[in-house]
Amino acid sequence: MTAKYIMSDYAIADTSNLLSPSLIIFRELVEQNIDQMIRVAGDASRLRPHCKTHKMEAVTKIALARGITKHKCATIAEAEMLATAGVRNIFLAYNLVGPNIARAVALLKKHPDLMLAVTSDATQPLQALSAAALAGNVTVEVLLDVDSGMGRTGIKPGDAAVKLYQTIGSLPGVMQGGLHLYDGQNHQSSLGERTEAVNAVWQLGASFRDELVAAGCEVPRIVAGGTPSFPIFADIDDSAIELSPGTVVLHDAGYGESYPDLKFKPAAVLLTRIVSKPGENRLCLDLGNKAVASDPAAGNRVRFPDLPDARELMHNEEHLVIETDRACDFEVGDALLAIPIHVCPTSALHADVYVVRQGEVEDIWDVTARNRKLTI
Ligand SMILES: Cc1ncc(COP(=O)(O)O)c(C=O)c1O
Repeated sequence: MTAKYIMSDYAIADTSNLLSPSLIIFRELVEQNIDQMIRVAGDASRLRPHCKTHKMEAVTKIALARGITKHKCATIAEAEMLATAGVRNIFLAYNLVGPNIARAVALLKKHPDLMLAVTSDATQPLQALSAAALAGNVTVEVLLDVDSGMGRTGIKPGDAAVKLYQTIGSLPGVMQGGLHLYDGQNHQSSLGERTEAVNAVWQLGASFRDELVAAGCEVPRIVAGGTPSFPIFADIDDSAIELSPGTVVLHDAGYGESYPDLKFKPAAVLLTRIVSKPGENRLCLDLGNKAVASDPAAGNRVRFPDLPDARELMHNEEHLVIETDRACDFEVGDALLAIPIHVCPTSALHADVYVVRQGEVEDIWDVTARNRKLTI
């Protein structure tokens, strides 16, 4: 079901000088989403939000100013962006292999006061990380990546997983940092069904933690949850839990439509213009798949708050053709706002974003970590 949008949330006094296609961040909505995320978590200290959605230093600083000190990321560039923004407790939730091992060590050497944690689920890269950390005279925390049922990365709880976690404790240069229990498979629209599935994931993780503790291991944290599941993990009373939603900060039409229980608003919206009217009821927009993510299925990549009946017919690199009964109301050159179905890969397509507050463009922010490499 297409969500209803409050048009006053997306008011912009003058779009005539704004480039299209471009991404616009509505600052008040970002702040409201972060505040709502803290409310759902119960306290900022329970959060470890994932920055992959926004990749921006400016957004990270808004979260830091609200007391969110622990942050999560997926790339070395995102980790460097977080460190430069002032974060001192970073969890790079990725299994490091190849030259990324040396890059993680270089990041710690550049920021000696940083607590850096990474994931692992295999012995050989863990040994390589240990050797590199030892040689670099740094310590990296390692969270065991637990496969919660998603089947993407991670190891299933069991004897081999206990052994690997003990190996983290026995190697120099690395230390036991806890468990990574991401459950991206839990996307049930029904809150009841999602709650049941998330609680089952938690049972798996908590009993594995108990097994590790019984074996004499330290398990200081369990990083769990994305946007759909973090409210359910937040209801579990366990001080080890760190909640790691990401999308929530900018939110998007995909999550908005799939999870009506989540009270967040899309805060990143695309500005596009009509470049042609190629037939009756047709508008062609400058919103190709180099400006909005094309990982949602074709025909389902954006929503137009002003044109809820629009059907996406054709999506090329620089063109999106839509069909709407209201095409006759629009002229070539007119601007439209479009809400991405999937914001995370959409923000990564833009080098910078306009920032609107109280209807006026007040700033331009870099999407710093859209590049794979910053300085390291
Ligand atoms: C490992 C990990 N943690 C957290 C998240 C955040 O999830 P969401 O985008 O649902 O907020 C993601 C999303 O891809 C992820 O891969």
